[in-house]
Amino acid sequence: MATSSPSSSSQTWSQRFESALHPAIAQFNASIGFDIELIEYDITASQAHAKMLAKAGIISAEEGEQLVAGLEQVRQEHRNGQFNPGIDAEDVHFAVERRLTEIIGDTGKKLHTGRSRNDQVGTDTRLYLRDKISRIRQQLIDFQTALLTIAEANVETLIPGYTHLQRAQPLSLAHHLLAYVAMAQRDRERLEQISQRVNTSPLGCGALAGTTFPIDRHYSAELLGFERIYRNSLDGVSDRDFAVEFLCAASLIMVHLSRLSEEVIFWASEEFRFIKLKDSCSTGSSIMPQKKNPDVPELVRGKTGRVFGHLQAMLTLIKGLPLAYNKDFQEDKEALFDGVKTVSACLEAMTILFQEGLEFQTTRLAAAVASDFSNATDVADYLAAKGVPFREAYNLVGKIVRTSLAVNKLLKDLTLEEWQNLHPAFEADIYEAIAPQKVVAARNSYGGTGFAQVRDAIAQAWEQVKS
Ligand code: ARG
Repeated sequence: MATSSPSSSSQTWSQRFESALHPAIAQFNASIGFDIELIEYDITASQAHAKMLAKAGIISAEEGEQLVAGLEQVRQEHRNGQFNPGIDAEDVHFAVERRLTEIIGDTGKKLHTGRSRNDQVGTDTRLYLRDKISRIRQQLIDFQTALLTIAEANVETLIPGYTHLQRAQPLSLAHHLLAYVAMAQRDRERLEQISQRVNTSPLGCGALAGTTFPIDRHYSAELLGFERIYRNSLDGVSDRDFAVEFLCAASLIMVHLSRLSEEVIFWASEEFRFIKLKDSCSTGSSIMPQKKNPDVPELVRGKTGRVFGHLQAMLTLIKGLPLAYNKDFQEDKEALFDGVKTVSACLEAMTILFQEGLEFQTTRLAAAVASDFSNATDVADYLAAKGVPFREAYNLVGKIVRTSLAVNKLLKDLTLEEWQNLHPAFEADIYEAIAPQKVVAARNSYGGTGFAQVRDAIAQAWEQVKS
């Protein structure tokens, strides 16, 4: 080692530097505290880079093998908990390279030939995200499966349907749940589209301009399973669009989970009593012994904001950056990592909640749909089917609801005589026509809540889940 080497905390830098970083600045500058998350991807990417260097004749085959084996040892040390770099390593890239050089000697110093940390960190981040996206896509399938399992068993279970959170028309419970299955399907599709762009290799873009070495970017990309490589080196090192796209998709997943959470929370309330929370997924109060709280959906709803925040942070991070790499980019990681972790954790928790944490109260649900005016549209439809213009029927039914409310009766309690006094077109079959089971079954237009439609939709959704 050259005697004029800077002191240990600045050893990463060239000899242009005479003194070490101020300790507080070293701390401020370091990303090792969080980018250690990338270590497996960093090692994998470096191994591919080393193989490429050897194949291109930039280093010898033997050196290539030494690098790959040394990196593998760093990986094992990390997995065994024996590799815990500190602040002096600055970031995961330096940490790995330094340890590699300790293990295999001077050959380790050849690893960084023909690349820069700028293309390196971009490569690692994409590998990380590609991996996490595939996990999240599987988690979305698990979530869909949990909902579909309940849906399948509850095609003919009815639940009040709302608009403006006012009772509107009764629904098949399965139909209600299938709406969330459909949202999750779009989430899966979005992630699939995004992963194509994530799966583009910046490796070999160098610091910003490419390199003088005869590298083979296609080969390293192929080793890493990238589908394509960046055409422009500046774009390659400074593109974070994929991170924005991911956080946008993640935000939408959270929106969907949060809406469902909100419903679960009020379904579980004393006012609704549509579901019962099981002990495995709810907690009590430290003071009110009667309480059972819907912590899981509340936390999911609460965590939604931080994912939105990460999206906003990422957009703001990028918007003023001149080409190419700027240290600002180091800030992309915590947003991305926390976005990934939050979405993953919420999907897992909601899946467990639907698998085993709640029970729909079918008796209570049946009573709910039988005790309101949510069949009023069906009375209007009944008349319209008999030739009364719909708007006229609608106005008449409005009047019927008003007078029924005045005498504290539901539509089903009106006598045939009362019906016929209201309009001569009413016959004895009106009672069947407004029975909840019947009104739901009858909404058999494509995409509607009619049982036949719902059964088709479930079959289709299972296909999507299995594909
Ligand atoms: N830790 C850095 C980051 O996360 C790695 C890239 C550093 N590049 C540089 N030119 N300083 O962005």
